[in-house]
Amino acid sequence: MFAVHLMAFYFTKLKEDQIKKVDRFLYHMRLSDETLLDIMARFRGEMERGLAKDTNPTASVKMLPTFVRAIPDGSENGEFLSLDLGGSKFRVLKVQVSEKGKRQVQMESQFYPTPNEIIRGNGSELFDYVADCLADFMQTKDLKHKKLPLGLTFSFPCRQTKLEEGVLISWTKKFKARGVQDTDVVSHLTNAMKKHKDMDVDILALVNDTVGTMMTCAYDDPYCEVGVIIGTGTNACYMEDMSNIDLVEGDEGRMCINTEWGAFGDDGSLEDIRTEFDRELDLGSLNPGKQLFEKMISGLYLGELVRLILLKMARDGLLFGGEKSSALHIKGKIETRHVAAMEKYKEGLANTREILVDLGLEPSEADCIAVQHVCTVVSFRSANLCAAALAAILTRLRENKKLARLRTTVGMDGTLYKIHPQYPKCLHKVVRKLVPNCDVRFLLSESGSTKGAAMVTAVASRVQAQRKRIDQVLALFQLTREQLVDVQGKMRAELEYGLKRKTHPLATVKMLPTYVCGMPDGTEKGKFLALDLGGTNFRVLLVKIRSGRRSVRMYNKIFAIPLEIMQGTGEELFDHIVQCIADFLDYMGLKGAQLPLGFTFSFPCRQTSIDKGTLIGWTKGFKATDCEGEDVVDMLREAIKRRNEFDLDIVAIVNDTVGTLMTCGYEDPNCEIGLIAGTGSNMCYMEEMRNIELVEGDEGKMCINTEWGGFGDNGCIDDIRTQYDTEVDEGSLNPGKQRYEKMTSGMYLGEIVRQILIYLTKQGLLFRGQISERLRTRGIFETKFLSQIESDRLALLQVRRILQQLGLDSTCEDSIVVKEVCGAVSRRAAQLCGAGLAAVVEKRREDQGLEHLRITVGVDGTLYKLHPHFSRILQETVKELAPRCDVAFVLSEDGSGKGAALITAVAKRLQQPWNEN
Ligand code: BG6
Ligand code: BG6
Ligand code: GLC
Ligand code: GLC
Repeated sequence: MFAVHLMAFYFTKLKEDQIKKVDRFLYHMRLSDETLLDIMARFRGEMERGLAKDTNPTASVKMLPTFVRAIPDGSENGEFLSLDLGGSKFRVLKVQVSEKGKRQVQMESQFYPTPNEIIRGNGSELFDYVADCLADFMQTKDLKHKKLPLGLTFSFPCRQTKLEEGVLISWTKKFKARGVQDTDVVSHLTNAMKKHKDMDVDILALVNDTVGTMMTCAYDDPYCEVGVIIGTGTNACYMEDMSNIDLVEGDEGRMCINTEWGAFGDDGSLEDIRTEFDRELDLGSLNPGKQLFEKMISGLYLGELVRLILLKMARDGLLFGGEKSSALHIKGKIETRHVAAMEKYKEGLANTREILVDLGLEPSEADCIAVQHVCTVVSFRSANLCAAALAAILTRLRENKKLARLRTTVGMDGTLYKIHPQYPKCLHKVVRKLVPNCDVRFLLSESGSTKGAAMVTAVASRVQAQRKRIDQVLALFQLTREQLVDVQGKMRAELEYGLKRKTHPLATVKMLPTYVCGMPDGTEKGKFLALDLGGTNFRVLLVKIRSGRRSVRMYNKIFAIPLEIMQGTGEELFDHIVQCIADFLDYMGLKGAQLPLGFTFSFPCRQTSIDKGTLIGWTKGFKATDCEGEDVVDMLREAIKRRNEFDLDIVAIVNDTVGTLMTCGYEDPNCEIGLIAGTGSNMCYMEEMRNIELVEGDEGKMCINTEWGGFGDNGCIDDIRTQYDTEVDEGSLNPGKQRYEKMTSGMYLGEIVRQILIYLTKQGLLFRGQISERLRTRGIFETKFLSQIESDRLALLQVRRILQQLGLDSTCEDSIVVKEVCGAVSRRAAQLCGAGLAAVVEKRREDQGLEHLRITVGVDGTLYKLHPHFSRILQETVKELAPRCDVAFVLSEDGSGKGAALITAVAKRLQQPWNEN
């Protein structure tokens, strides 16, 4: 009995002494609570530095956005392939995620070796090998005939800009294949897979193992929002608020951030706690100076740390009687599994002896106790450091959620955590001590990270299918060069039909003579009134032209034309116009003045002289009764008479394109074309009289108002019209009419966009499938909104705000789609308009028998002026389709009122030749 007690006493004393000895030797490795709190605070700072745009480039903790935005919700389903590369084992898997919310996942997997010559050889060989393993797996499982989406778990730091792409920042752990760093890993693998002609695999997601782990655990526990790996390497990810992630646009919801905490300390911030052993280990590693935090923690390094410590202790005579075995000198001889075995509760000491003997040592009892304690100190430090960093993440999560207490789950994986007997307990305890205001559940990922990766792939696969459907819709708006050339050709033919007496009656492009036969020459002078009706604004103007100096002064006032007047009776409309004139004269102090008037009337009118114009048909938003077929100049005169307050001499009626041409021609005599890309779309140009069969005479030129908006009304461009164009047409005031205008002008582009959005929403591809009242409202997308949405300077968030202003509650993804829809619609409009213009300039070039034509186009209209890309695309298209024409574009700054006044001046002069100086 006594002997037993004596033995026990002896053993306890021996143990105490050894522990004390080791503790003394390794005192620098034992971290106090204050130190841990300090490290926790430092890591919090690192996280912030990594998240902020300006500090990220130099931050050592990279905080990489993963583009994983939500944890699984149980709706995931399908069959997926999965690769798991970068942990201690390389696996290929098939994952079947069950349908109908049963939350069942079936996996079949196969491990493949990763020999050093492969993982440290040539990058292309590494990926060829991975693809070969996948092919082998598919062969064995009879999957080759299937097209399957693949999720790649790739456990290295990758910079992602989308889910299916990742540029390797640097290799870590045991890998060091050449030619992969700074390149996209997914492309490498895709290229390698292409060599297998019988495989059809689409890599939809690249996920870090931490992310896979978090998602795996979240499938079973929706509280899981952190993933931690303590295996070969160490790392963590967590769900961060989008508003805190500077590197990714948008502020809605959350995104998983792969912290890559292994690199914590790479900037020297942990030098105070690193020991000589850490430094030595680092120097002998594949990546010196890198992953310094990881090298104090993870499985690849713990055994080596222990070996270096034992070597030093032996050298100092503190172990093995100063003897060293040659095996103890060999790098990597002690592995983490040895450390774990030595720390086993009961058989630990026996294991220690066995391991030391295997290393060629002859350890005493005291040596075994000391070595075991060395292991404990090293593992304990590892768990403490992990706990400090994890505590920082948990605190951040709690603060993000503004909670006094956080209840959360951390998904865990990695061999060190799994096989080390005390590690989990120690980690949990320290975490709870460091963050007493968090209730943390640690959930072990039983099935590795691939189950989670399959969830991510499932979501990606759904998104991809949706994307495809969106692209199909947008593709309808993408015109090929051939299609544009075809439009150009048809427009050219229509221009000719309109000019010819025989074909004119049936022509859709009316080619209306305007009786404007020359450009202003600078001799015009006088004081004129002008009206400008038919664009976005109705204006009354006073225009004073001085001869010689080409100087024009203008005074104008914008008046509203209420919808009920636009679509009321003709009398009401013209009475209203006259009322506005009266107000203007009053406002200008010109009551009773008798002035010549030029009337810009932006609708198709058949003219027989400059002051006569019969309205062929209303276009755009006007539909006043009893006007079509009437001379609108007469209607205006009668309205003036009805008012009986003043007399005006209506000298000219002018289309806005013509007004624009004159306005611009006043400055640039080379200007021979007037273009409006505004509420409506139209063009006029100077044509040779000999080509205008409707007007007598062959000498000189006359301006032709093409009214090209009606192009296509005979169905000739139906091949490029979409169902959305048809819907817009059917809902318009003039169904079947102005088909080209309805594809190219401001009044309709927003409507086309709205129709597409309605369709996409009905398909469940937008706005969560909910069609709001606003979306049902005609006309919500005015040109100015389209222009804003498409501005390149605008961040996604601002797009979202515009949509919110329009009453459309969109997510960031919705905003991206809306912007794309707007882009597709406006691009097509600009191209079509360009094709039309190309037809005209080419005609002018050929008519004049020129090799090369230089010509200027005067342009006006809100679409052209406000839209960020319309004018550029239009010009590019003209250049492309009419390469032999050198077309300059000048913007009409003063509107067409000025041009109308100039025409009035000329007409007035012709009326009263005796007035000439
Ligand atoms: C596995 C995961 O369970 O754990 C891997 O499936 C991960 O994705 C690995 O990399 C981490 O642990 P270890 O110890 O294998 O590096
Ligand atoms: C104005 C002209 O500047 O532009 C009008 O003065 C013309 O005559 C108008 O109708 C066209 O653009 P929008 O966008 O107002 O229809
Ligand atoms: C290394 C890798 C990291 C990975 C971790 C665990 O730290 O850089 O991406 O998550 O190991 O495998
Ligand atoms: C409509 C009108 C046309 C006008 C154009 C631009 O197409 O029919 O006359 O020029 O809009 O405002």
